[in-house]
Amino acid sequence: KKVIHIVGARPNFMKVAPIYKAIAARTSLQQILVHTGQHYDVKMSDVFFTDLGLPAPDVHLGIGSGSHAQQTARMMVELEKVFLEHQPDLVSVVGDVNSTIAAALVTSKLAIPLAHVEAGLRSYVQHQPEEVNRVVTDRLSDLLLTPSRDADANLLKEGADPARIHFVGNVMIDSLLASKEKAERLSTLKDLGLSPRGYAVCTLHRPSNVDDPRILGGLLSAVAHVSTRLPVIFPVHPRTRKMIAEQGLSHWFERHPNLRPVDPMGHMEFVGLTSQAKLILTDSGGLQEETTALGVPCLTLREQTERPITVEEGTNEVVGTDPDRIRQAADRVLDGQFKKGRIPELWDGRASERIADLFARYLRVEETSL
Ligand code: UD1
Repeated sequence: KKVIHIVGARPNFMKVAPIYKAIAARTSLQQILVHTGQHYDVKMSDVFFTDLGLPAPDVHLGIGSGSHAQQTARMMVELEKVFLEHQPDLVSVVGDVNSTIAAALVTSKLAIPLAHVEAGLRSYVQHQPEEVNRVVTDRLSDLLLTPSRDADANLLKEGADPARIHFVGNVMIDSLLASKEKAERLSTLKDLGLSPRGYAVCTLHRPSNVDDPRILGGLLSAVAHVSTRLPVIFPVHPRTRKMIAEQGLSHWFERHPNLRPVDPMGHMEFVGLTSQAKLILTDSGGLQEETTALGVPCLTLREQTERPITVEEGTNEVVGTDPDRIRQAADRVLDGQFKKGRIPELWDGRASERIADLFARYLRVEETSL
């Protein structure tokens, strides 16, 4: 039996890597890795394959950037050819990027069973691109693999068949835990002149945050304030880099030497950087989860989160985009007032094993080492 995995954008790679390895170790399933090419810069894609020990993709579609319609449509046309050629018994997609929904739509029209890893997350912001991708992908999936119980509840509320829902835990944490020790032994901190817990990390890339100069300017002003208290390392996403240049906002960096823009980092480097930080400010979804697993305080610079468990149980606080509120929240954390949090259920580094076993049972193939 054959499974096709779809990857395309940066947050996909660390979710698929442990699943791919667990399937190889525990089942006799044949695996094919398809890269849509949604992300194509070496620092947004290739470096993750090396860091995560993922084999080179069997198929690379080279789709690249474009409007949502163009990008998704091009992916669909190419994916249809791949699925018709390889005749998979199951297609597995992860997360909520355009590559995810493109594969889900094609799979569904060809009546190929579909598994969605990270199913059931909801921000309830209707036109957020990722929310559209999540809702539609879940609706089309035969196996809904959820990272937390709130995701199960969301799916049930939408009328999903309970038999399709499987609470397997958070596969992103599998990659994090597998990398952490090695990541902390790298010279990342030394190279940047940092000491453990002596710096903050900021990432921003949501269109709603970076495409509007007033919002991006406000966010940079708040982060610049944080940099007056400790160095802030800011790995800049290509979208954000473009917007900072176009909107004439680079003065925030010029006037605040402790606000330090760097190129996007590989997985290992970034895990080492975040695991030893004092504070993270971000609009990323994955980073809210990783900081919860690491016990590092996280301020989420968005109005809501599709990952509420990181707030209820973890170290995350959703502070929105108002600069004053962000400054106050950051000052509080830096003054030592933050919640410790606990590790959510099944964020134990073994979600990928549960997924591999489930795929094997679903496809009725022998599990080799249970
Ligand atoms: C995508 C995902 C988002 C995810 C993010 C992680 C969707 C709808 N969004 O957003 O959920 O959090 O990836 O990074 O799928 N670009 C480059 N080099 C690259 C890739 C992109 O320069 O390798 C630039 C291009 O100018 C491109 C822009 O970044 O137009 C946006 O890329 P795109 O893939 O459309 O979305 P992301 O913002 O990366």
